[in-house]
Amino acid sequence: MAKILGGITTSHIPAVGNAIANELQDDPYWKPFFDGYPKIHEWLADNKPDVVINIYNDHGLGFFLDKMPTFAIGAAHEYRNEDEGWGGIPPQLDPFPPGAPELSWHIIEGMVEDEFDITSCQELAVDHGFVVPMQLFWPGAPHHPDMPRAIPISANTVQHPIPTLNRALNFGKSLRKAILSFPEDIKVVVLGTGGLSHQLDGERAGFINKEFDLMCMEKIVSAPPEELTKISRHELVRQAGAQGTEFLMWMMMRGALGGDQVTELTQNYHIPISNTGGAGTMLLECA
Ligand code: DHB
Ligand code: FE
Repeated sequence: MAKILGGITTSHIPAVGNAIANELQDDPYWKPFFDGYPKIHEWLADNKPDVVINIYNDHGLGFFLDKMPTFAIGAAHEYRNEDEGWGGIPPQLDPFPPGAPELSWHIIEGMVEDEFDITSCQELAVDHGFVVPMQLFWPGAPHHPDMPRAIPISANTVQHPIPTLNRALNFGKSLRKAILSFPEDIKVVVLGTGGLSHQLDGERAGFINKEFDLMCMEKIVSAPPEELTKISRHELVRQAGAQGTEFLMWMMMRGALGGDQVTELTQNYHIPISNTGGAGTMLLECA
C-alpha cells in the first residue's frame, strides 16, 4: 500500500527561481533563506519518495478569474512549465516533470466518493507556485537523479470566495485517505507551497506579520490542526495579507499528515523574502 512519508512547506516566490538560475544561493541576501534546505535535501535523499504531491495555488496561468476551480487535481502524464514571465525559468525545465496519472485518478475517484468536488485536469500548465518548490527540493529539477513523479493540486486562493481553512484541512484528510488506499507500495511526500504573510499590491503592499507567521508555524506542529481553522478567511487576509491566503495550502498538506500533532524535523523562517513576504520552510513527519 502507498505510504505518506511526510510534508514539506516552502515559499514559492518567483524571485527564488531567478536566484537559483543565477546561482545566488550563497549571496548574503539569499543565504539565510537557502540555509533552510540542506536538511530537507538529506531527508529526501534518505527517504526517496516515488511521488510528490505538490499542493500549490495557480496564479492565473492554468486557470484564470473567468473560470476558477476551488480544487483542481492534475491527472496528466506530464505538466508544462509555462510561468507567466517573472523571469529566470530555464528552458530545460519544460516539459516538467513526469506525472503519476494512475495515482491521480485513484485520488480523484476516492475524493469524489468522499464528496469533494474536484476539477480533474488531463492537461495543466504549472506556474512558479509549483515549479519553484521543485527546484528548491530537487536542485537541477527535473534532471535530479531522485526526481519523483509529480501530481499538482491547486486550490483557489485568488478569486473570492476562497475555501475556508476548515475546508482545506478536510481536503487534506480526504486526500490522505485516498493516498493510503492506493494498492501499490509507493512512498509519497506532500508539499504545501506559498505564504507566509505577504501582500503584493494595494495600500498594504509589502505587509508582513512575523508574529502571525511564527504562531502558524508553531501551531501547525504542536496543536490539533482544527485550532488553526478557527481563523476566518477575513481574519486570514487581515493577519497575513491579501496573498497570505496561500496558508490554505499549508493546511491541506497538514490534513494529509493526519493525527493531532506532527514531528518537526527542521524549520527556517526568513523575512523579508523578495522584499514582500515571510518565507517559512518546514519538514514535518507524521507523529
Ligand atoms: C511573490 C509571492 C508570491 O506568492 C507570488 O505568487 C508571486 C510573488 C513575491 O513575494 O514576490
Ligand atoms: Fe504565490
